[in-house]
Amino acid sequence: MKKPFYITTPIYYPSDKLHIGHTYCTVATDAMARYKRLAGYDVMFLTGTDEHGQKIETKAKEAGVTPQQFVDNIVEGEGGILDLWKLMNISNDRFIRTTDDYHVSAIQKIFKKMYENGDIYKGSYKGKYCTPCESFWTESQLKDGCCPDCGRPVVDAEEEAYFFRLSKYADKVQDLLENTDFLQPRSRVNEMVNNFIKPGLEDLCVSRTSFTWGVPVDFDPGHVVYVWVDALSNYITALGYDNDKYDDYSKFWPADYHFVGKEIVRFHSIIWPAMLMSLGEPLPKHVFGHGWLLLDGGKMSKSKGNVVDPYILAEKFGVDALRFFLMRTFPFGSDGNFSNELLIQTINVDLANDLGNLVSRTTAMVGKYFGGTLPAGCKDWSAPESFDTDLISMASALRGVYEAQMESCAPHNALAETFRVIQRANKYIDETAPWALAKDMEANGQRLAHVLYNLLETTRICGILLSPFMPESMEKLFVQIGAAAEMQTWDSAAVWGTLSDTAAVTKGENLFPRIDMEKALAELEAAAEAAKKAAMPALEIEPYAAENVDFDTFCKSDFRAVKVKACENVKKSEKLLKFTLDDGTGKDRQILSGIAKYYKAEELVGKTLLAIVNLPPRKMMGQESCGMLISAVHTEKGEEKLNLVMLDDKIPAGAKMC
Ligand code: MSP
Repeated sequence: MKKPFYITTPIYYPSDKLHIGHTYCTVATDAMARYKRLAGYDVMFLTGTDEHGQKIETKAKEAGVTPQQFVDNIVEGEGGILDLWKLMNISNDRFIRTTDDYHVSAIQKIFKKMYENGDIYKGSYKGKYCTPCESFWTESQLKDGCCPDCGRPVVDAEEEAYFFRLSKYADKVQDLLENTDFLQPRSRVNEMVNNFIKPGLEDLCVSRTSFTWGVPVDFDPGHVVYVWVDALSNYITALGYDNDKYDDYSKFWPADYHFVGKEIVRFHSIIWPAMLMSLGEPLPKHVFGHGWLLLDGGKMSKSKGNVVDPYILAEKFGVDALRFFLMRTFPFGSDGNFSNELLIQTINVDLANDLGNLVSRTTAMVGKYFGGTLPAGCKDWSAPESFDTDLISMASALRGVYEAQMESCAPHNALAETFRVIQRANKYIDETAPWALAKDMEANGQRLAHVLYNLLETTRICGILLSPFMPESMEKLFVQIGAAAEMQTWDSAAVWGTLSDTAAVTKGENLFPRIDMEKALAELEAAAEAAKKAAMPALEIEPYAAENVDFDTFCKSDFRAVKVKACENVKKSEKLLKFTLDDGTGKDRQILSGIAKYYKAEELVGKTLLAIVNLPPRKMMGQESCGMLISAVHTEKGEEKLNLVMLDDKIPAGAKMC
């Protein structure tokens, strides 16, 4: 029976399109899963999406759709997460969405179990409260000490919430981190222990009442389960824990590896083991915290506008070349600086030059000198030169060296070892000079056939070991060198001489064409520019006035800063808001404005606005309006948008604009 192996990626937030950093993590997990399958394991590879929480709720509101519609679009929509994994040839066995019914009901059971065993208790959460918005905030969520939504002052408050007794498990978790190889690489252990455990682990707030997009606590309506309790549990609910959807928990749990990015190691190496201890379940064998792909030394983020789109790169350079680059270039536990130059250089040096040349030169020579099939008996040679033995012994030992690196989660080293052998094989071509041997086929034909066999056999072994990283290209490579299915196996990678000496070799398409760096960089820049433009909302602005206004006429307009003292809807009017304004004169000014469609009256109180104050007063719905508030207007996707011009609150009421 095959040994089970369970590996996971984090489940991704479907709040934005995924970028190359997310792709890095998933490709690494995929390469590991494929390697384990190759090595004969029964693999379960899980990935998915983490769909609850306030951020998603807010984004959906901004987009004018329900949270479920919002996440459905990013997960299943065109160009969404599922499409990206398909494109990248990700071989996950299962995909979990935390909005899946079976997961939701399992979370409710998990929460209840921890409540019933006393590890979850009801307490109160101290923080800040914005009364007009009825929102509860933590200190760190405040903006300049005020409500991040409306900007008004907040008050101290307490919110009823459930807490998980994380503190109870501090010693056990510290022991796990310090005295086992649970958390890798080892360098991450000190960070966790010194920064989070030693200063004192506090109990964790595990329910929220300030928003609703989450798994409801079934025994206490109004509370939703904290998104990390919901998310971390995916690793077991996806196997059937506390649900009937699947039935693989006893086979695959505990997980062999959770691959996660370094910023979420804390959740996986402290909170997750403590939760499992509370549930009385076995702990995962390892958590591996990989580094980040950086851009110009900083983290990629949508808000900084510096994300790299995997679709553009895969389309331009090929999926396998991109997968290979990610795994070959950046040591898995450390951060790495992404650049297009580095990507193109890696493709050109490793794939086009080293591997591509080895395959095309070897297959071309078998074709040219032997019509595509070597003569029987070419495997053996009675008087090997030192370079024959050197190549054969390196290639024969490669699987063992590679395996050791993969087992210690160092795919970059496994690839480096493989490329050392590929480079050795290219050198062997120079040392043996097959073109010189071919000049006298009668005398040297058998030797030439042996040389070419050694090259094909080295290529076969390297092809097997590269297949977890570049599955599609290696399939093509096997066809070109005539390696049948039984010659592509893990076992056969350790057996020199497996390739049939009379295999049919064909010079096929160039697997990795060389890339013109300058041209490709210019095209990438143009593509990034076009993508940026396409992502911008389709704006329409008012046409500019054709006529100039003379300066004296312009100066007659009296623009002033005004502060909103009160604002309310005008009765029986759908459009009008009535503003009571401080204009610096000491007397209130009243202005009516037809903007009720764009603003709630209460959210404007306290704001500093811009008004023209010397327009003649006019009556609207029986009320006097003395001036006009200035707004910016444009059309977006056919819809008119209006924004009041807001001034810095430092500007005093009555200040003249000139
Ligand atoms: N939803 C949580 C994970 C819950 S797991 C129970 C989450 N999602 S995420 O979408 O923000 O990130 C998913 C993974 O992508 C994380 O491991 C994160 O480190 C990784 N990456 C995001 N940007 C990255 C880079 N620039 N480079 C490498 N990995 C990065 O966190």
